[in-house]
Amino acid sequence: MVNICVIGAGYVGLTTAAVLAELGHEVCCIDKDQNKITELNNGKIPIYEPGLSEFIAKNTNRLSFNTNLEEGVKKASIIFICVGTPSLADGKTNLSYVDAVINEIAPCIHSYKTIITKSTVPIGTNEQIYEKLLAKKISPELFNIVSNPEFLREGSAIYDMLHPDKIVVGLRQDDTQSLPIIQEMYSRIQAPYIVTSLNGAEMIKYASNAFLATKISFINEIARICEAFHIDVNDVSKGIGLDPRIGPHFLQAGLGYGGSCFPKDVKSLEQIALSKQIHPLILQAVQTVNDTQIDVYIHKLKTLFPDLHTKKIAVLGIAFKPNTDDTRDSPAERLISRLSQLTCDVCAYDPKAKLSHDQHHVRQVNSLDEAIKGADCVVIATDWDEFKQLDWTEIKKQMNGTIIVDGRNCLNRKEIEQCGLRYVGVGRG
Ligand code: UDX
Repeated sequence: MVNICVIGAGYVGLTTAAVLAELGHEVCCIDKDQNKITELNNGKIPIYEPGLSEFIAKNTNRLSFNTNLEEGVKKASIIFICVGTPSLADGKTNLSYVDAVINEIAPCIHSYKTIITKSTVPIGTNEQIYEKLLAKKISPELFNIVSNPEFLREGSAIYDMLHPDKIVVGLRQDDTQSLPIIQEMYSRIQAPYIVTSLNGAEMIKYASNAFLATKISFINEIARICEAFHIDVNDVSKGIGLDPRIGPHFLQAGLGYGGSCFPKDVKSLEQIALSKQIHPLILQAVQTVNDTQIDVYIHKLKTLFPDLHTKKIAVLGIAFKPNTDDTRDSPAERLISRLSQLTCDVCAYDPKAKLSHDQHHVRQVNSLDEAIKGADCVVIATDWDEFKQLDWTEIKKQMNGTIIVDGRNCLNRKEIEQCGLRYVGVGRG
């Protein structure tokens, strides 16, 4: 058992803190936001993540929440940095939260600390953190910096942290102390270790997200070509995915990728490359396909409805993917904005997520029935399970029109057509 301080109570920080407590460690999770900490201490979890609240409740004897960073850091031998690293307007990464944490923890380092960065940071950042602490006259005997990126998917973050496919540990060249500390801390987690340099670990995280985003943009481009030849892209995904060199995952065509990681990380890696005068052709193409994917659906809708601006469109799904209430960079919200600009009457429904801002002609309703009632067209924008199991005969009765646009290619086309509705996917023949 070790004493751990987790700085940042967002998705990554809360999941990390809850899982480390579950593994038997004494964990204090720190956040500047007093309201959030008060709520957490009252058992209220600020985000929707399946299993997280149960996990936190189960481990309250070992897990505490506080705003007092100094106290948390002094007590702990391991410090996790889990603060946000959002995009700046130019696509580079805003490191101000990480910098602020380093400035705050520096004066509290009086005994040996292993400082672990989980936040996704540009290549070279952990080396800079090390230098920064040395410049603040912290003895190199008193600390080490480790890069230990996370690969958690929202919606299955707890499972992913307990069952990772690998544990990536980036170390400074002369650091012989940290690896056994990390291995001891994670001793109850079974996974292969990838031990590399600090820069190497940072790159694994970026390359991993960029590769997954590339798979999505690739299949979305293939879907556009399939569309022209009346081919079902879902058959193509299945067909190519069975080749173990390709693999079946992240080949679901649709409205494109969103969320707090892919868009930001691909942009950031592009900027990292450009900073070294490397022109990242693939990364740029991946983003172009993603940025124009909504256009493909808007074009479809305009073809189906020449008077689109007069139509009532029910958009099912607001979250950037199912099983989360997160709408950051959500393709569903991008679609809603476009429809709002076209002055359509938009009725949006999501089982968990709320629209992030008010928009003209857009209403969010609390039930699926309300959204569908009188709709000329229903668009599936997020592939929640509940949308895959709809009773289409009932839906047809409530709708004004007959068109179902499957923006996630996740519905059973035959079933919908048998109910007398018209199914429209992208790249589905
Ligand atoms: C991602 C990575 O998977 C995770 O390892 C990393 O730590 C953080 O970023 P997350 O953002 O939670 O996780 O979502 P993910 O499940 O990867 O989906 C990202 C986006 O891609 C979603 O908008 C999703 O709808 C879309 N997607 C995913 C597709 O469009 N097609 C697919 O086949 C898969």
